[in-house]
Amino acid sequence: MAEPRPRVWVSQPLIDAVIEPLRAQVELITTDEVTAWTAEQLAARLADVDGAIITLNERVGAAQVAGATRLQVIANVGVGYNNLDVEALSAAGIVASNTPDVLTETTADLGFALLMAAARRITESERWLREGQWGQWSFQTMLGADIHGSTLGILGMGRIGQGIARRGAHGFGMRVLYHNRSRLPEAAEGEVGAQYADFDTLLAQSDHLVLVLPYTASSHHIIDAAALAKMKPTATLVNIARGGIVDELALADALATGRLAAAGLDVYEGEPAVRPELLALHNIVLTPHIGSASLATRKAMVQLAADNLLAALNVDGAAARMPSAINAEAAFAARTASGDKSKKR
Ligand code: GLV
Repeated sequence: MAEPRPRVWVSQPLIDAVIEPLRAQVELITTDEVTAWTAEQLAARLADVDGAIITLNERVGAAQVAGATRLQVIANVGVGYNNLDVEALSAAGIVASNTPDVLTETTADLGFALLMAAARRITESERWLREGQWGQWSFQTMLGADIHGSTLGILGMGRIGQGIARRGAHGFGMRVLYHNRSRLPEAAEGEVGAQYADFDTLLAQSDHLVLVLPYTASSHHIIDAAALAKMKPTATLVNIARGGIVDELALADALATGRLAAAGLDVYEGEPAVRPELLALHNIVLTPHIGSASLATRKAMVQLAADNLLAALNVDGAAARMPSAINAEAAFAARTASGDKSKKR
């Protein structure tokens, strides 16, 4: 008798053209409406499936997988995975994956778009025009900061940081400084056109500072009131990483008091909620976590998540390597240690 097909849950409507063909290989349970899953609902959904494709809005930890005895893989659609408790998943023998690379350039584009919109007051200008204020125009209307020839700072120099550096150095003739846990090899610094700086120098010298570092306990509120106080009052701050990296109340205060000129945020501490203190400001550009939101990139992300999932479930007998597993070694070691034969190696 043929083995039953693995059962797979997809937590949100994604890209049908990529998801629907999976029905040929797995028993697919899709979600037709955008859903804010509670912790308990997630646990119930994960309890009787072999694999799941989820988004950054689903937080999965020990409690959600405690009863998920069949679950072998969680394929996260997103490069960041602070929504997953990777240690708990590994301990339960569950492999997790993410979607790096395919979104690098699109996300770097958005970072640059936010930088330009904030520095050149694009959305503020548009609101002013729509409100019928053009009649009040003066020579000093909407004066912003130059991008070309200025100093671009990048905090976090992974793939997306490097994409932003290239845009700044090679497209806009900017001097590019970066700070990162580890320094890039000299040849890579030369290729992206960036120079390493210590954290304080980066803060002090950047005309525009873009945050692209992963969110961890050590990056929580790394941009706080003290860090903001070290920045130029004419500077622009852009966050396309995770909301928790910035102390949003300190940022709102700096923007309201003229301590900082402008900001662009794509990510928020309590998203989808946005603090009223931020919403009240005119010198901030706010987008709803759309860094990777081009159709081509979203398709590629879902495809990569599906490829990870099928490889992990060993669908069609091909024990393929997952293209982007996060914790394969640790999860497989836990399976071996527990002697769990129901989950394949
Ligand atoms: C988006 O924020 C992602 O991590 O992919």
